[in-house]
Amino acid sequence: MLRAPGVYAAQGDTFLLLAALRREGVGPGTRVLDIGTGSGALAVTAARLGAAVTAVDVSRRALGTAWVNAALRGRLIGVRRGSLLDPVRGRRFDLVVSNPPYVPCPAEHLPDHGVARAWDAGPQGRVLLDQLCHDVPGVLDPGGVVLLVHSAVCGVAATCAALERGGLRAGVVSRSRQPFGPVMRSRATWFEREGLIDRGERVEELVVVRGERVR
Ligand SMILES: C[S@@+](CC[C@H](N)C(=O)[O-])C[C@H]1O[C@@H](n2cnc3c(N)ncnc32)[C@H](O)[C@@H]1O
Repeated sequence: MLRAPGVYAAQGDTFLLLAALRREGVGPGTRVLDIGTGSGALAVTAARLGAAVTAVDVSRRALGTAWVNAALRGRLIGVRRGSLLDPVRGRRFDLVVSNPPYVPCPAEHLPDHGVARAWDAGPQGRVLLDQLCHDVPGVLDPGGVVLLVHSAVCGVAATCAALERGGLRAGVVSRSRQPFGPVMRSRATWFEREGLIDRGERVEELVVVRGERVR
C-alpha cells in the first residue's frame, strides 16, 4: 500500500478489523462505509471483494492515498471529506467499519491537524467513539452491521452499551493482545494516574465490537 507522509500506517488494530471484515461475507452489491479510512486498507479490501465502497476521513491526504491505493488495484471507491458520518447523512449501508482515533489524551480538545489527529480521542478515548456509536444506527439498513476496533483501555462495555441504546445487538467478536506502541508507552504513567490501566501494565487488548441492526 502507498502511504503519503502523515497518513496512519496500517497496523495491529487495522489487521484485527480487516480479519473481522473478511468474515462478514462482503461481495458484489454490499454497500460498505469506512470511517477514518487512513491509507484505505479496509476500503480497498472491501472494494477488491466487489463491494461499493465509500471512504470518509477528515484528512485530504488520507483520502487521496486511499483513492490511489484502490485505483492501483483497479477499483474505484468514493471518497468524502468530513467528520464521521456527516458526509453521508441520508445514505444507507450494509456494513460500516471504523478504526477511529481512540487513544486517551489529557486534552479535551481534539487536534485539527497533524499526525495525532489519527489517535488522540480525549481524556477517556471516547470522544469520537461515542459520537460514532450514537450516529451509526441511522445509516444502517435492517440487518446492517457495524464493526469498530479500539483498545480495551477506553471501555468495551461502554461501546456495546452505546450501540445497544441505538437499537443494535452488540458484542465483541475479536480480541488480540499487543505490547503498547510508542504513543501508548509515552502516556502510560498518565494512564496509571487516571486509573485507565493497572500500575506497570504495558500490554493492551484490542477488541472488535460488532453491532447489528436487528431486522
Ligand atoms: C487510527 S487511524 C485508522 C486508519 C485506517 N482506517 C486503518 O485502520 O489503518 C484513524 C483515522 O481517522 C481519521 N479521523 C480522525 N478524526 C476523524 C473524524 N472526526 N472523522 C473522520 N475521520 C477522522 C484520521 O485522519 C485517520 O486517518
